[in-house]
Amino acid sequence: MIAKFTNYQELSAFGADKIIQLVQQKPDAVLCLAGGDTPALTYDRVVAKAQEAGVDFSGVIFIGLDEWVGIQPSTPGGCYYFLQQKIFGPLHIQKDKIYFFDAMANDLKADCNRIDLAIEQQGGLDLALVGIGMNGHIGFNEPGVDAALNAHVVELDEVTTAVGQKYFASGAALAKGITLGMAQIMSAREVVLVASGPKKAAIIREAIQGRITNTIPASLLMAHPRVSILLDAAAATELD
Ligand code: F6R
Repeated sequence: MIAKFTNYQELSAFGADKIIQLVQQKPDAVLCLAGGDTPALTYDRVVAKAQEAGVDFSGVIFIGLDEWVGIQPSTPGGCYYFLQQKIFGPLHIQKDKIYFFDAMANDLKADCNRIDLAIEQQGGLDLALVGIGMNGHIGFNEPGVDAALNAHVVELDEVTTAVGQKYFASGAALAKGITLGMAQIMSAREVVLVASGPKKAAIIREAIQGRITNTIPASLLMAHPRVSILLDAAAATELD
């Protein structure tokens, strides 16, 4: 399903409703939520609606989508930090409900295995909410990624390291990422992709109307049986 919204606010309200409805139906849902700018307002709305409607998030399991290798959980701009500020903190999520990459680990491969196992033990992802990179990445599944991979460490694309500076106040050394693989995202029972703003219009067109190819990882989502692509008007301008 491709849904076009008049603006970012409407897109975010719809995304938030999806999360709230899922948690109301399944209080022990397994959620994988992206960092990045696009879902920020969705998360604010989730928190507001959860508080207004008394939705209990205490049983929800959160699986991290990705993290910049070498970035500490306490560093503003990092994915964990962002989700801590936006979701985990405001919803008072207990630490034992959060499985997030340790991007400071000496053995990153072992950390990937830990997250793979956590997903398996939790019975898979109920919902993955993802953004799209300027190069079509999903999480840190960069162009050319092996779509059969589970969690893995990746040399980031130069588009990703350049664009990624926007999250950090002073220059951050961004070279590698640690991410869930496309195999895990594609196995989620539901995927929601959010894209907003004119900068995303061209890549959205390629992802949605182009060939399904690992050179545009987001295009792989078009083969998912239950995917919602939520676009604001600006991100949808190049669609036929
Ligand atoms: C962040 C992530 C990335 C972003 C993508 C879009 O956890 O997984 O794939 O979703 O780079 O970022 P924004 O939303 O900042 O344009």
